[in-house]
Parts: sequence; structure tokens; C-alpha cells
Amino acid sequence: MSNKGFTLWFTGLSGSGKSTLAEYLTPILKERGCKVEVLDGDEVRENLSKGLGFSKEDRDTNIRRIGYVANLLSRNGCAAVTAAISPYAAVRNEIRDLTTAAFIEVYVYAPLECVEERDTKGLYKKARSGEIKNFTGISDPYEGPEDPEVRVDTSKETIEESGQKILDYLSEKELI
Ligand SMILES: Nc1ncnc2c1ncn2[C@@H]1O[C@H](COP(=O)(O)OP(=O)(O)O)[C@@H](O)[C@H]1O
Ligand SMILES: [Mg+2]
Repeated sequence: MSNKGFTLWFTGLSGSGKSTLAEYLTPILKERGCKVEVLDGDEVRENLSKGLGFSKEDRDTNIRRIGYVANLLSRNGCAAVTAAISPYAAVRNEIRDLTTAAFIEVYVYAPLECVEERDTKGLYKKARSGEIKNFTGISDPYEGPEDPEVRVDTSKETIEESGQKILDYLSEKELI
């Protein structure tokens, strides 16, 4: 049974597959003996970050809170899986630096055309029409990581293939 904690930090555009991969990996990690907690952006915004908006400052605060909790969990032997857009590289790097357990940044990549076509929550349509302002990838920046530990391309891979890449990395680093 593994009890090494780590933070699995997903970053990517809305609809890129962060929540899907977090959900897909959770039972697999549990089977491998990990204690797992998922901090999903949408859910966090309903509780831990309730009241925060989408200005750069509020986005940074939201991400810092997620990073703070992920650090507490991972240093206590938990696999903390975060699934928030986390658009700004500087804050992601700040969290990487404060995290005492292993920090694995996973770039959940899919081209904008692909996520817009998926439009899983109908938000891109609203962003294009101007109904939603400051929408990441359309009217707000997204800074992809330059050197992530793992990069998946969900426009080309199945969920299983993307998930396996992440599991392979964790195995290679003897975290699972
Ligand atoms: N390789 C893949 N990994 C993750 N999701 C994928 C993949 N291929 C296709 N998808 C689909 O992409 C969508 C991603 O949505 P979601 O997980 O809600 O995105 P996010 O949480 O990043 O906003 C889902 O409909 C999922 O089935
Ligand atoms: Mg999501």
C-alpha cells in the first residue's frame, strides 16, 4: 500500500477534460492504495471560494486556496487531485514552490476549436455572444505550462489513453 502523498495539478481550458480525468483516475488510484481527494474548480467555487468572481485577482485567490488545501492533503499522504482551469502560470508556479510533497502538473491540452465544438456546458456559446465576460480562451488569457510533468492531448487521445499517461508517470516516479 502506497501512502506517499502528491498533488496532481490539472490545468487546461474549460471542457479540456480536467474533471473527466479526475473522476476517471480516482477509483484507479484508490485501488492502488492511495487516499484521494479531488478539488474540482466548479465545486470549490460553491464553497471554499464562494463569492469570488473571475477577475485576475479573484482567479488567483481561488487557485491559491486550492493550492493551500492541496498542500495540506498531499503532505499528509493523500493524493490531492485538482481540476481547475488555473490559467496563470505565475500562480501555478507559486503553488509548485510551496508544495512540500511531489507536485505533478498535468497540461490537459485540447485546441480551442475542439473545446468550443464540445461546449460541454454551453459556456463558449455564451462567451462568444458576450453574455459571459472574461471567459478563459475567448476573452481572458490562458497561459499553458511550458514544461509540465505530463501533457495529454484530449483531442487525439481517449480518456483511457490520457489517464494511462498520467498513471505511467506516477508509477515511474514510484508515487503509486
Ligand atoms: N482524453 C480525454 N480526456 C478527458 N476528457 C475527454 C477525452 N476525450 C474526450 N473527452 C471529453 O471531453 C469533455 C471534457 O469535459 P470536462 O471534463 O467537464 O472538462 P473540464 O473539467 O476541463 O472543463 C468530456 O465530454 C469528455 O468525455
Ligand atoms: Mg471541470
